[in-house]
Parts: sequence; structure tokens; C-alpha cells
Amino acid sequence: ADADIAALVDEKNGRLDPQIFTDQAIYEQELERIFARSWLMLGHETQIPNAGDFMTNYMGEDPVIVARQKNGDIRVFLNQCRHRGMRICRADGGNAKSFTCSYHGWAYDTAGNLVSVPMQQEAFPKLKKEEWGPLKARVETYKGLIFANWDADAPDLETYLGEAKFYMDHMLDRTEAGTEAIPGVQKWVIPCNWKLAAEQFASDMYHAATTAHLSGILAGLPEEVDITDVAPPTTGIQFRAPWGGHGTGFYINDPALLLAITGPKIAGYNTQGPAAEKASERLGSIERGAQVTAEHMTIFPNCSFLPGLNTVRAWHPRGPNEIEVWAFTIVDADAPDDIKDEFRRQSMRSFSAAGVFEQDDGENWVEIQQVLRGHMARSRPFNAEMGLGETREDHPDYPGTISNVYSEEAARGLYTHWVRMMTSPDWATLNATRTPQLDAASA
Ligand code: FES
Ligand code: FE
Repeated sequence: ADADIAALVDEKNGRLDPQIFTDQAIYEQELERIFARSWLMLGHETQIPNAGDFMTNYMGEDPVIVARQKNGDIRVFLNQCRHRGMRICRADGGNAKSFTCSYHGWAYDTAGNLVSVPMQQEAFPKLKKEEWGPLKARVETYKGLIFANWDADAPDLETYLGEAKFYMDHMLDRTEAGTEAIPGVQKWVIPCNWKLAAEQFASDMYHAATTAHLSGILAGLPEEVDITDVAPPTTGIQFRAPWGGHGTGFYINDPALLLAITGPKIAGYNTQGPAAEKASERLGSIERGAQVTAEHMTIFPNCSFLPGLNTVRAWHPRGPNEIEVWAFTIVDADAPDDIKDEFRRQSMRSFSAAGVFEQDDGENWVEIQQVLRGHMARSRPFNAEMGLGETREDHPDYPGTISNVYSEEAARGLYTHWVRMMTSPDWATLNATRTPQLDAASA
């Protein structure tokens, strides 16, 4: 079956078999081999600042509790009671000393230990409570973002992110104050395969000029700016992780498009003035500090964000034909209050459950998924050959595999890594496929 999976993605010629978006057996294998073994983004540290603060989330389809401990650590464990499998915590978040299962009352502390069993002497006299805590995941953070992984053999988070860290820093490391999350997580359902969303955010600047984003851009443009100034620029790059499936792309020196998406106030904050200057210094170049514009990014498998607008989301898989999007917005922690509020407003206007750009993207994915219900519609490969062979690994300013901003190199990288994970029995096998670049970057 692994050979069959490998045949679905033809990296050399840029071909994708549509079955990867629809097949139930492939989906089950994704839950096991990708979602149970990858680092998955679960939120931002500032969403649970105090001891006892917790939020519930998902790793693939597995519900988890993310909880701040007394010593400041964050624990992540399966939100499943070991007695008969009831969800331990049914709230979205809050502050708790313990979690009591609502079925028969087994209680767990915030570290995920079973601490109390009703009528234990009479009912479970031999039960060793220390053996019946929920499954615990590994937890690591990168500059405020919380990630967890079920697999003990996976590399540490920084190694896993590799060169992608450099690009994540455009959003996460503009100031020594770091970032904070704006309160609230928006959650909504899109009937499409998770890879359509992950791939687009990894690799697809190409759609921006066609997908009805143009109307959103027109609507958001200040009167004094001419639409011809916002014509899609051509200066920009795309990054493909040499190994790991991550991707990003952005325009360079194109404040007009950023202006249309974020509005003038955020564009001004990002590209001019003291915050931009500080970011330039920290990130090592004016270009990066002035916010390389309209950036899209995916950390494999299902964490995506848009540096500059700062929406951060997970595409939680719900079968081959559906996702739940969980999205929040982050801001520089030392930004003025009115700027923070403007990030909140503009991210809701553009990329959120009701955002104008979000609707455009989602509509395409939903239609693709519906078309793929057809037998003949699944019989021919998709073309993903844009920019094939047009890459360099020695860009003076940007690490990783670099191509033109209009390319499907990062998409090919994502699907190639998808095949690797789907066909590798364990992390030892996966690690053996790593490129030297990754080791150099994480050294
Ligand atoms: Fe949780 Fe019975 S299922 S106590
Ligand atoms: Fe889009």
C-alpha cells in the first residue's frame, strides 16, 4: 500500500492524484502517520498565562486539554477519561484546579494525573490510580506558539521547524516583547480536505489575482489609492523547506497590496516608524522588518498563518471531506492599544469566519471537493508543475529552497513530505531521508 501512496504524488513532473483529497483509507492513514507523529500547533502561550489556565483543542481528531502548570510548564494530554472514554473536560477553556469526568466522576489534576475515583474503596479497591492518567503528549513552544507531538521519537520542535523558523520570525520576533494573542478563537467548518487549505497557505500566491480577492482588495482600498497600483507585483520569493513540508511566499516592497488587505493603519505600523525600525534591526534587514508583504505560510501539516495580518490557524481534519478551522490573531505585545484593536478588526474583516478574503478561498476549496465526488473527476492528475526545476539553495538573503513567488515548489515540497510521512513506519526511517540543509540549519 505504501507503493500505491507514493505513486499518487509525482514530484518530478508535478502531478497530484486527486484521490489524496477524497479517499477514506488514505485519511485514516493520515491520522496515524501524520497527525499522531507531527508537531501540531495548539495555541499561544498568552492564551493560558496563569497556573490552572487551560484550553481544549485537537490534535488531528484527538481532543486534548492544554493546561498551564504551577511551575509555568504547559501540559497537553488526551481529553479522554480512562474509565469509559468520556471527554474529561467539555469547556472551551477557563481556569481549573482539576477536571472531573461528568459520567462517573473520575477526577484528574491539571497535569493529567488521575487523582480521585468516587467510592474507590467499594468500587475499585485494587485500582492503581497512577496507571490510569490520560495519554500525555510532548509539548514545546516556539516564540509563543505552543506545539505538541504524540511521538517520543520525533525530533525536537526547533529541528522539525528547521529553516522555516527564519520566516516565522517575520511575525513572531519583531520585538523583544514578543507577541500576544488577541482574546478569542474563531471556529468554523469548511467542507473540504485539509490539504487544500494547507497547500494554499504554503505555496499559492498565484490565486490572489484571480480568486475574487480582487473585489475584497477594491473594497478595502482607501480612495486615494489607484487599483492599478495594486496590480499583483512580481517581485517576491517562495520558500520550500528542503525537508519537512513547510512553505511560505511573499512579495517584497509592495506596500499597496498589504495596504488593501490590512488597511492603512496596520500597513503603516508594519512598514514605517519605530516598530518597523526595531523589527528591521532584530530581523537583520529593512526588507524583513518593513514586513515582507502579503506573506502566506504553512508549518506542516496543518498550521497556517499570514505574517503582516497575523492570523494564525489550525486546519483540523474531520474526515477527507471536511475541516474545522480554529483561528486567532496575534500582535506585537508592545504595540499601542489602538494598533492591537485594529489588528483585531482588520483580521475579522479579511481572514476570519466572515472575512471577505476567507470566503473567496473557502469557496474554491468547497467547489473542488464537490467536483471530486465525480468518478471521472478523480480519474486524471492535477497539474502542479509551476516553476518546476527553477530553484536555488544559495540565495544570499533567504535560507532553504527558493523560487519565484509564483511557483508550486512549496506545494511539491508539502506533498513530497506527505508521502514520506505516509510511507515511513517510524521517525528513524523518516530521519534517514533528511537533507543536510536541515541539519545545518538546526545545528
Ligand atoms: Fe469517566 Fe466513567 S467515563 S468516570
Ligand atoms: Fe486567498
